[in-house]
Amino acid sequence: MTFQNSAMTFQNSADLYARATRVIPGGVNSATRRLARPMAWEWAEGAYMRDVDGNTFLDYHAAFGPIVLGHRHPGVTAAVAEAIEGLDMVGVGVTEREIQLAEKVVEHVPSAEMALAFSTGSEATYMAVRLARGVTGRTKLIKFQGTFHGWHDYLLMNVITPAEKIGQKDPGCAGQLADAVENTLICRFNDLDSVERTIAAHPGEIAAIFLEAIPHNIGCVLPTQAFVEGLRQICDAHGIILVFDEVITGFRHGLGGYQAKLGVTPDLTTMAKAIANGYPCAVIAGRRDLMMQFSTAPGGKVFVGGTYNGHPVGAAAALATIAAMEDGSVHRHLFALGEHARSGIQSIADRLGIRMTVGGYGSVFTPYFMDGPIDRYEDLLRNDNASDVAFRSAMVDQGIFMLPMALKRNHISAAHTLADVERTLDIAETVLKTLR
Ligand SMILES: Cc1ncc(COP(=O)(O)O)c(C=O)c1O
Repeated sequence: MTFQNSAMTFQNSADLYARATRVIPGGVNSATRRLARPMAWEWAEGAYMRDVDGNTFLDYHAAFGPIVLGHRHPGVTAAVAEAIEGLDMVGVGVTEREIQLAEKVVEHVPSAEMALAFSTGSEATYMAVRLARGVTGRTKLIKFQGTFHGWHDYLLMNVITPAEKIGQKDPGCAGQLADAVENTLICRFNDLDSVERTIAAHPGEIAAIFLEAIPHNIGCVLPTQAFVEGLRQICDAHGIILVFDEVITGFRHGLGGYQAKLGVTPDLTTMAKAIANGYPCAVIAGRRDLMMQFSTAPGGKVFVGGTYNGHPVGAAAALATIAAMEDGSVHRHLFALGEHARSGIQSIADRLGIRMTVGGYGSVFTPYFMDGPIDRYEDLLRNDNASDVAFRSAMVDQGIFMLPMALKRNHISAAHTLADVERTLDIAETVLKTLR
């Protein structure tokens, strides 16, 4: 695969973006898709993608995480094509693929006794909120500073919080209901005392604790084993529903999600993104007694609906993605290349005397421009964001697409090769020398 370098031009992207801004607010359909230099795309395959000016990039963005096998994986594409030969949607009763999808989730994910399918991660986390409140009769939720669980009012708080607002409520958008903000309590990640104190201040009021199994929305900050085990014990002691949001980690880090690595089983799990390699599919799974409270079951008191839930295209893509992972070779490849990328970038930075801590797990890597330790979002306030963005932007200019925003994670897919990662390291060395 050839790639282009500093001779790149972006005029066609600029023209399309100008056209887009006339009819799409800001020219993009999701807030985090807006780039300082607008980009429009026409092709993606394997580990590569090409913009409308013909510039080809090695893709570490992975569409924010779904692309785990590589773009347009032949098995996934064929499964989708086969699915739409049969039917588009009927929207009543069930299809065999929906059953197979739930069976696969139950087979692989430790916490999954039953599963329900949606299209997006936000729907799954919203339903987890509603179910937790419905079964406990309590209103309050706990989430952690630095985690993201989707765009709805209940959890869109305290993600990339500015230093001066740490310790306070930091709602993510205008128009959020005051009640929603009031009822979501923010704790420090990897800090059980903060959780204990919050529960003690609100006895009998906490319905659920939401944990991004690894907070990947700030790159990669790993939970300690003691923290996750402690959360499990606290939830058991207080009758609180423990929810692992594995929308990013699910299937990307293993068929059983990150919970399988931790050996800690939540009550409910939400998964999306890498479950279907780029097609819309999301799942909430968990304990049978809880899941049976959804109104899809007779007598279930927690309403659940959605015209596109369990859509044949998403279900077919998910089944093909899961099938491609089942012999273990995909994850072996992802973990080996991820480790190579992390240790390679770290040793380049060390050699050049650049202050850097490369975070990551499995296929994910995030070079932070700071010294460790990094235990929680608050530590990342020390990140040199300007150098972070300058590094990423310079990599993009050299044909290596690392999302040019501070703290964002890079993803390796099964289509990335050792040669791709080696080339990335060579270019990173040149870029870092220049930046230094
Ligand atoms: C951990 C986590 N949960 C939930 C969501 C929401 O998923 P979606 O964008 O599919 O609604 C995201 C999206 O980035 C996420 O990273």
